[in-house]
Amino acid sequence: MNDLSALPADFVWGAATSAYQIEGAVDEDGRTPSIWDTFSHTPGMVDNGDTGDTACDHYHRWPEDLELMKSLGLDGYRFSIAWPRVLPQGSGPVNPAGLAFYDRLVDSLLEAGITPNATIYHWDLPQALQDKGGWPERETAERYGEYAAVVAGALGDRVKDWATFNEPLCSAWIGHLEGRMAPGWTDLTAAVRTSVHLHVGHGLAVQALRAAHSDLRIGIVNNLSPCVPATDREEDVAAARRADGHTNRWWLDPVFGRGYPQDMVEVYGVDLPLKDGDLESISAPLDWVGLNYYFPQTIVDDPTGPAPYAKMAYLPDLPRTAMDWEVNADGLEQLLVRLHEEYAAPRILITENGSSYRDVVGPDGQVHDPERTQYLEDHLAACARAAERGVPVGGYYCWSLMDNFEWAYGYDKRFGLVHVDYDTQKRTVKTSGRRYADLIAAHRRRVRRAA
Ligand code: IFM
Repeated sequence: MNDLSALPADFVWGAATSAYQIEGAVDEDGRTPSIWDTFSHTPGMVDNGDTGDTACDHYHRWPEDLELMKSLGLDGYRFSIAWPRVLPQGSGPVNPAGLAFYDRLVDSLLEAGITPNATIYHWDLPQALQDKGGWPERETAERYGEYAAVVAGALGDRVKDWATFNEPLCSAWIGHLEGRMAPGWTDLTAAVRTSVHLHVGHGLAVQALRAAHSDLRIGIVNNLSPCVPATDREEDVAAARRADGHTNRWWLDPVFGRGYPQDMVEVYGVDLPLKDGDLESISAPLDWVGLNYYFPQTIVDDPTGPAPYAKMAYLPDLPRTAMDWEVNADGLEQLLVRLHEEYAAPRILITENGSSYRDVVGPDGQVHDPERTQYLEDHLAACARAAERGVPVGGYYCWSLMDNFEWAYGYDKRFGLVHVDYDTQKRTVKTSGRRYADLIAAHRRRVRRAA
């Protein structure tokens, strides 16, 4: 049993989801298509031809899902708001029915004693804005700033924790450079422009949120990975440095006031579409930073591959999840320490961490997932070790509350603490979910005893 006693008394025990992955109801109450509706309906882009059309039907079943959160004893719930529900054309008239969905959800969470943590953008750009050029165009960042003002104005009296973006790396690099996510482009210039415009949008959103309510706690969520050279060959060491720039520094440095890393500006060789004042607004002080951690990367040089000319080496004999991602909890501790020591992050929330395994409902009606349980315990122990080393670790949101639409992998890859049968929409708490509930209860007992 891992020792979690170093976790702070006010540690937030949470779970996370995102709109397109769980809501379904893609054409109800005025919602219009997002780039993920378009992408998932494009033949060949998503495994099995899966789409988010129904997903977990959370749009209708959220009261049941809230009961599940209560049964786990969660302190916090991280969810995202679907831009095309709130502003069906991406800008212009607000759709009251779209906002009302989040309004009800937030009120009910608060009534249940669960603190909402809202992400404004988790990849579902309204298709209407994509049709005008999408993130490679600055106008999208400006429209995003306006959208942030709308949701902050409507919900900021009750939602105090806000993330501007979830994993901008995925939107820029995977969506515009590798083409494996919406909108499916493979264009380095567009990808670099996207990355900068996401940051510009972040800066505008921070301004809009602060203007809406002075008591909001604002952060941005990045997916980071330690990048370690596979060998001590000079080429691999340099490649690992580039991979670190691509994966970590590009996303952290500008937000922490260091500007874009010059070595990576040279690697990409693309003019950055920055205007006067952008770097200042991108680096406006935040209240917390979100860390999504899944796996470390072992890197080899890849001179003929796409930027950053570095790729992951597949080392045999390592424990891996069903995503083929290495299981390595030490990587989480390393990143937490790095965010603290190198970037002086004020407060760090682990906004996602979790694992996919091939879960099945057994003959006893239960879902036994010992590997996920172990993963969860080991990664929480890594948080506790970091806390012991002085890192301001404020909370942990398990990815995910329930199985959901895993983007280009469709429904085959399950990350939930709760199993979802997509034929019947039956929810079953997995043994990992029960273990999580026990750990939460044990933490509360420890805090009470210490008081
Ligand atoms: O499902 C995703 C989530 O949307 C963003 N972070 C990683 C998760 C697992 O791949």
